Amino acid sequence: MEFSTKVAAVDAVKADCVAVGIYTDGALTAAARRIDTVSGGAVTAVINSGDATGKRGNAVLLRNVAGVTSARVLLVGLGKGGEFNDKAFAEAARTAVRGAGTGVRDLAIAVSDWKPRGRDHAWQARTLAVAARETVFRTDELKSKKDENGPRVTQVQLLLDARDAHVEKGLKEGVAIANGAALTKRLGNLPGNVCTPSYLGAQAVQLGKEWKLEVEVLDRKDIEKLKMGSFLSVTRGSAEPPRLIVMKYHGAARSQAPVVLVGKGITFDSGGISLKPGAAMDEMKFDMCGAASVLGTLRAVAEMKLRLNVIGVVVACENLPSGTATKPGDIVTSMSGQTIEILNTDAEGRLILCDALTYVERYKPAAVVDIATLTGACVVALGDVNSGLFATDEALADELLKAARAALDPAWRMPVEDDYQEHLKSNFADVANIGPPGKAGAVLAACFLARFTRAYKWAHLDIAGTAWKGGNAKGATGRPVPLLTNFLMKRAG
Ligand code: BES
Ligand code: MN
Ligand code: ZN
Repeated sequence: MEFSTKVAAVDAVKADCVAVGIYTDGALTAAARRIDTVSGGAVTAVINSGDATGKRGNAVLLRNVAGVTSARVLLVGLGKGGEFNDKAFAEAARTAVRGAGTGVRDLAIAVSDWKPRGRDHAWQARTLAVAARETVFRTDELKSKKDENGPRVTQVQLLLDARDAHVEKGLKEGVAIANGAALTKRLGNLPGNVCTPSYLGAQAVQLGKEWKLEVEVLDRKDIEKLKMGSFLSVTRGSAEPPRLIVMKYHGAARSQAPVVLVGKGITFDSGGISLKPGAAMDEMKFDMCGAASVLGTLRAVAEMKLRLNVIGVVVACENLPSGTATKPGDIVTSMSGQTIEILNTDAEGRLILCDALTYVERYKPAAVVDIATLTGACVVALGDVNSGLFATDEALADELLKAARAALDPAWRMPVEDDYQEHLKSNFADVANIGPPGKAGAVLAACFLARFTRAYKWAHLDIAGTAWKGGNAKGATGRPVPLLTNFLMKRAG
């Protein structure tokens, strides 16, 4: 899907379809009013008939409207005029693309009327591009027959009152974010037998070639040399070799401290010897969505050519049971030197992340953000709306929360405090990998990670509830690529 801008009147623009907004209670945007006038009341007639409600999500497609150049007019519900906010804007963009149906390739949107309070033109353009792209995303790479239903829009024109460089810039940013999120979704949706740790490594190498990233893929021998005993303990049950993947994007002077992103890349989480129950276990192929979001974000950052340095680190392996697998009660030594009693092999995310978090000290980072589908407890606490944000640095937490709001990729702050550490005490090692059942599971996981992050400013995003959807809409969401990209955009200035 491509985007362009056009300074033209809604009735005179040439497209397969022109989308205009209407509000509830028959209120029209300026563009809708213009169509109504030139057509002698076609819009009000559809509203009066009850077909178009103006409610959010409602879209009515009209053909051959008198006085209008485009073959179709789409009336897009914007909800109550006074309540048009950020979310309503993104929803309107999705409704426009979806409502255009299967016949429309070239869609013009009269977007200048759609103004959420406090948002500028660049935000509008960026958000529209992300939302529109999301609507046509499909995973059919492993289907022998491609899905023919659903929207097929390939060109989107934004109708403007005047040329605007901010809109052009916003569109480019939106496309980069959408491309990044699409990569994240694609990788997330791939099954565990395709998307293995080595596959992720190969994808990183390819991304590096395409976007001029410096990529390094470490294998088992390298990982052994680094003494990542905690990471290695998780790989013991699996025949798939582990990978530690490092991707470097240089957008600023080499001397500038990088922002480091660390992604959990469990390409399948069976729980290991602490085996998970069978129901919906297939969804544990999504346990590498943190890793996928690191690749997606690096792609977006490179496409935008942001002026800062970003390093993406992905720590990838499978968590499977076998005769050689780690057992409950086993004690391992992490790269940091801390010994860990593994009381539950299903709390494996923290075991691979802790070594990666120690590894990244070498970059003397400006900040480190790890992204992980870490705990079921986070899903209990926050559901599928907010990602859990944990941070030991106030300013970093605020930056991320602000980026999350701007990106419509929300996060909610949760505590990381030393008072919780006593629940991770072990009788036999420096720390246990779980706390007592039913007690602050997401917080304890974060507190476990905090023990390995004392050398830098750190934040942790638990995306267990937000990285994918289950049920009929099963699939990766591409989150938190918009959040992370927005955060890095602000940092780059
Ligand atoms: N990958 C899971 C977390 C998860 C569970 C994400 C369900 C999304 C949905 C993680 O590795 C895990 O199994 N965590 C355990 C930790 C527990 C053993 C302390 C959990 O949440 O049950
Ligand atoms: Mn697990
Ligand atoms: Zn897991």
